[in-house]
Amino acid sequence: MSADAAVRSVFADRFGRTPEGVWAAPGRVNLIGEHTDYNDGFVLPLAIDRRVTVAAARRPDDLLRILSLEKGAAEVPLADIKAGAVQGWAAYAAGAVWSLGQEGVRVGGLDLVLTSDVPVGSGLSSSAAVECSTLLAARDLYGGPQDRIQLARIAQRAENEVVGVPCGIMDQTASMACTAGHVLLLDTRSLTTRQIPFDLDQAALSLLVVDTRVSHALADGAYAERRRACEQAARLLGLPALRDATEAMLEASRDRLGKLRYRRARHVVSENGRVLEVVRLLNSGRPGRIGPALTASHTSLRDDYQVSAAELDLAVETATTAGALGARMTGAGFGGCALALVPAGAAETVAEVISRVFSDQGLKAPTVFPVAPADGAGRLP
Ligand code: GLA
Repeated sequence: MSADAAVRSVFADRFGRTPEGVWAAPGRVNLIGEHTDYNDGFVLPLAIDRRVTVAAARRPDDLLRILSLEKGAAEVPLADIKAGAVQGWAAYAAGAVWSLGQEGVRVGGLDLVLTSDVPVGSGLSSSAAVECSTLLAARDLYGGPQDRIQLARIAQRAENEVVGVPCGIMDQTASMACTAGHVLLLDTRSLTTRQIPFDLDQAALSLLVVDTRVSHALADGAYAERRRACEQAARLLGLPALRDATEAMLEASRDRLGKLRYRRARHVVSENGRVLEVVRLLNSGRPGRIGPALTASHTSLRDDYQVSAAELDLAVETATTAGALGARMTGAGFGGCALALVPAGAAETVAEVISRVFSDQGLKAPTVFPVAPADGAGRLP
């Protein structure tokens, strides 16, 4: 049964009526531009063909009832939604409804049935997909802004303030604003976007995601710590954000920054440069040439930013040795997924070699699957 049919049918069984509509929002992978979004920098994500699908209908009261086909049920009065008050997965949905209310929209109660095929905890933004699908449903039923970037900010606020994760704006923007066949260039300072063609078939390329299925603890604290280090580095350089730094400025202030902040900042500065280089190559119709920038991004995330993990390093190294044009960890790091750009004809071999090497080393079997740029969130017909 399709996700659409499944949420409609469970909605009817559970709530005894038909939903007013069904919405869906995808997860994402980030092609390049990692840990740049909270530094006012550039990111280049694509939406993937895995999504959260939600059936929704208004209620005459102020209750939010949410049923996830994978995770169970939760119920919360709208007035009770605030920082830390809702636990677990339900906080993403509840937070999105709350955040829309903060925009001055008179949001009432909702019944929601959700299902997701975005792997959870893998760095593919399953949480942004929950936020964005729920937010679109609530927006269509109760009103609110049309602008996709504004919607992404509302979803981000849910995560920052209700869930309590100090994430940047990339994941929600990708889920809201990506289009099929493109990567999305987002300038996280001006919030301007550009759709950059990324036609894998035409270039006979395949983009493989390697889900290592490991997620190392540490991740939350380390993310906040990296963010703080970047803010401190910008302050020490007398700049609004690391977006404004150059390699020469970092060299000149090396002592003042200290070793660790210098390395964190060097990643951000070099990564912004790589995003723009990849955009140039894609715009000139040479997607097969972006591999070295992807691999250089990984090296920088591993050595300067120090957010990789042994499994991610192994996936990247194995992929490139087995024939990938380039590979890197994607997402926040400390586990989750790597991506590899591979000539289409070599995709199967690369996937097999990765699985074999992981098995030989006694590691958990990774899931390897191809992704292609999909459409962002929307209401289903
Ligand atoms: C997570 C955050 C994003 C971004 C990435 C790292 O996915 O939610 O905002 O900072 O990590 O690039």
